[in-house]
Amino acid sequence: MTPAPDLGVYVHWPYCARICPYCDFNVYRVRRAAEPAALARAIVADLEAQAALTGPRTLVSVFLGGGTPSLMDPAWAAEIVAAARRLWTPAADLEVTLEANPTDAEAEAFARFAAAGVNRLSLGLQSLHDEALAFLGRNHDAGQAIRAAEKARAAFPRLSLDLIYARPGQTPAAWAEELRAAVALGAEHISPYQLTIEGGTAFDRAVQHGRFVPPDADTGADLYDTTQEVLGAAGFEAYEVSNHARGVAARSRHNLVYWRGHDYVGAGPGAHGRITQGGERQATYSVAKPADYIARVAATGAGFDSHTPLTPREAAEERVLSGLRILEGIGRDEVAALQIPPERIADLVDLGLLADDSKRLRATPAGRLVLDRLTTELAS
Ligand SMILES: C[S@@+](CC[C@H](N)C(=O)[O-])C[C@H]1O[C@@H](n2cnc3c(N)ncnc32)[C@H](O)[C@@H]1O
Ligand code: SF4
Repeated sequence: MTPAPDLGVYVHWPYCARICPYCDFNVYRVRRAAEPAALARAIVADLEAQAALTGPRTLVSVFLGGGTPSLMDPAWAAEIVAAARRLWTPAADLEVTLEANPTDAEAEAFARFAAAGVNRLSLGLQSLHDEALAFLGRNHDAGQAIRAAEKARAAFPRLSLDLIYARPGQTPAAWAEELRAAVALGAEHISPYQLTIEGGTAFDRAVQHGRFVPPDADTGADLYDTTQEVLGAAGFEAYEVSNHARGVAARSRHNLVYWRGHDYVGAGPGAHGRITQGGERQATYSVAKPADYIARVAATGAGFDSHTPLTPREAAEERVLSGLRILEGIGRDEVAALQIPPERIADLVDLGLLADDSKRLRATPAGRLVLDRLTTELAS
């Protein structure tokens, strides 16, 4: 019998001190003091209920994401991490990540989060320029970002930095310099994300009213190339479209769970999960609003409001979407249900977008730039 797949746990902490104008994640301003404490208890109860669904599994990652989970009381993080360790079998090298915003107040709590079991910090630096941070609506400046990175290196064995590029007026030369300054902070992992104008956000309205013009596609591609060059020269491998690691051990095990199509439990408002049961892949979706989520856990034990089996075709489409993002690509057997015509693959190989070694399909560097097109051609 095939052993049950390894498991990741994603916990969504939806509160933020303020809502950034570009963000369309499931986020809420912290308002009622009692609600976060109730949410932490509900998340532990939800994990307990979902452990009954997954059965015994090896736990490879716990990811406390958000929102801003660094705003939670570290004692609650300790309870959530302890619950996950108790409910599944922790791998010897279990990765426990916390997302944090780099304000001085949050950096003060890093040592307590480390004591709670967090061994990897994902720090939302976004930029090292004060004007850019103000444009992005952040509540930290470059000085706080640098201090937080230094404190994080002292408190945690592993550090990752998030940056946002393709800001209006940004030149490749200025971006290269900013990236080098980020590299100098000593992180093992860097995730530079191209600014996306998401529908319904304050930036979306600003662009529609002509208050700023995002860089065009050519400038975006130049900035992407600069990212690859600067981080490559600094010893970082682009193991995924927006994720660069200094060596294999520095890759995010949590994100690899998603991109390799392994199982993960999602707990917290709006979290989703994928659990394989009896050979069938189930998708779980939790209710989005914190109060509704807390009420649902109280009423039914688990926080998800739907629990749907994916058809083999849907499961294979997901594999194309996530698997082509990483260097290792996808196994041909994983996408058999799509019955991709061989001539379509041959065309994409001829165009230099796909590499095909009869067992695996991989996006080439050129293919990574047009992933939407590749996935549409393979999964439609
Ligand atoms: C959901 S946030 C959580 C981290 C933390 N709250 C923070 O803001 O630093 C995860 C990352 O997504 C990226 N991100 C969010 N919205 C984005 C957008 N519209 N365009 C590009 N990157 C974005 C940011 O780099 C951010 O650090
Ligand atoms: S980017 Fe981070 S801090 Fe800003 S609203 Fe989104 S989750 Fe909250």
